[in-house]
Amino acid sequence: MKEEKNKKENDLMEKIVSLCKRRGFIFQGSEIYGGIAGIYDFGPRGVELLNNLKREWWNAHVYQKENYYGLDAGMFKNPRVWDASGHTSGFSDPLAECKKCNTRIRVDKVLGAIGIIADEKMSEDEINNLFDAHRNEIACEKCGAHDFSRVKKFNLLVKSNLGDFTSEENEPVYLPGEACQGIYLDYKNIVDSMQPKIPFGIVQIGKAFRNEISPRNFLFRVREMEQADTQFFIKPNENKEAYERIKQEQWNWLLSLGIKAENLKWHQHENLVFYAKDAWDIEYKFPWGFDELEGIHDRTNYDLSQHMKFSGVDLNYNDPITGEKYIPWILETSMGMGRLFLSIMLDAYAEDELGSETRVLLKLSPKLAPVKAMVAPLLRNKPELVTKAREVYAVLKKEILQVAWDDNGNIGKRYRRQDEIGTPFCVVIDFDTLTDDAVTVRDRDTGKQERIKVGELVEFIKEKIN
Ligand code: GAP
Repeated sequence: MKEEKNKKENDLMEKIVSLCKRRGFIFQGSEIYGGIAGIYDFGPRGVELLNNLKREWWNAHVYQKENYYGLDAGMFKNPRVWDASGHTSGFSDPLAECKKCNTRIRVDKVLGAIGIIADEKMSEDEINNLFDAHRNEIACEKCGAHDFSRVKKFNLLVKSNLGDFTSEENEPVYLPGEACQGIYLDYKNIVDSMQPKIPFGIVQIGKAFRNEISPRNFLFRVREMEQADTQFFIKPNENKEAYERIKQEQWNWLLSLGIKAENLKWHQHENLVFYAKDAWDIEYKFPWGFDELEGIHDRTNYDLSQHMKFSGVDLNYNDPITGEKYIPWILETSMGMGRLFLSIMLDAYAEDELGSETRVLLKLSPKLAPVKAMVAPLLRNKPELVTKAREVYAVLKKEILQVAWDDNGNIGKRYRRQDEIGTPFCVVIDFDTLTDDAVTVRDRDTGKQERIKVGELVEFIKEKIN
């Protein structure tokens, strides 16, 4: 039974990974050199889908809000930032190594897989005791031996030698372990330059890097990621209502992308990470089970207090309405764009029968689809059809942007290719077009076709994709 379930999970992941490569969504980083663990590249279709997701996210979290401010902070930061944030001392995962083949395991995850609850926040002694009690049940995934080292806490920050021209690496400049630190560092600049009235938000989509011990599950656990973060600055102790509202808004936003509600669920953290007073995850039903998609954290005044202490700069907010002076509390939402991308792909993947043929399709919401419309002449060896199709293509490309041309193979094959990448509309120019100035528009999900006048095509597609 368990084997059957594992096979089904692996099948779906294999299908998604294969489709992503075959159709230009995601490639393994440095593939021609044998790859590099935990790094992926977004190909031509992937980058369009990713950009659509980012645009939707920015729209909902900046343009549709009042008093929210966008930011794009530099990645590298003064090394003291990571001391203040707690990352140099507290940002680690428990690691053990197979003594036979040197494979490294993340102990909390391996224990979790056999039903033992452990997490990265336990002390080294606590997790060693737990691991010792279950060592015999844990085999190395590579060589099968039951012979692991003692568990050590391994810090996840990635170091660089930026600005260091010695070989000593005494004060490494870290790559960001979480993107949100840039927001805390620019909080004062934004208050001074924009004069926001509390409560206000600062948002950013930024890169983060983690020396993950065992990157896995495709885009789910990677070493280089992009996080879409909102930090909402509130008056002290005014967290409860705002926290519930923000949680609900994030949930609703995921639904607005077309993700099925039954594939989402809430999970409250019992063991809180060092900065949080309360923490909830929105989990997505990945093929291996529900797992974290987005973290929503009540960070209190932890971050600004720490940066005030370490930098010596006053980070109090002078409330222009009440005249009070205080360090704002922060409510955070943080979502890995790669995890969102993977959830969207899994949620949209479908196989069905159309006209007695089995097909694969991505039922992406039209606003997310990397290609909104494919334009094709019915036959590519008829110049009058090609000329007219090129005209239609030029207009759509200018107005809709994400438009593809495909005159390769029979029309059925072209439809299948577009179904597989989630293109909601295929526009075909046939002999009737030359007399009635109308085209056939085929709908991805139903396969139904309707005739639309060329002059009404842009509006027709715009209305559907918005
Ligand atoms: N600033 C808070 C923060 O970084 P987190 O729970 O560690 O919190 C937030 O990360 C989100 O970033 C997660 O919910 C997940 O979507 C994403 N994320 C974290 N680690 C990741 C990894 N190794 N690979 C891909 N995404 C990751």
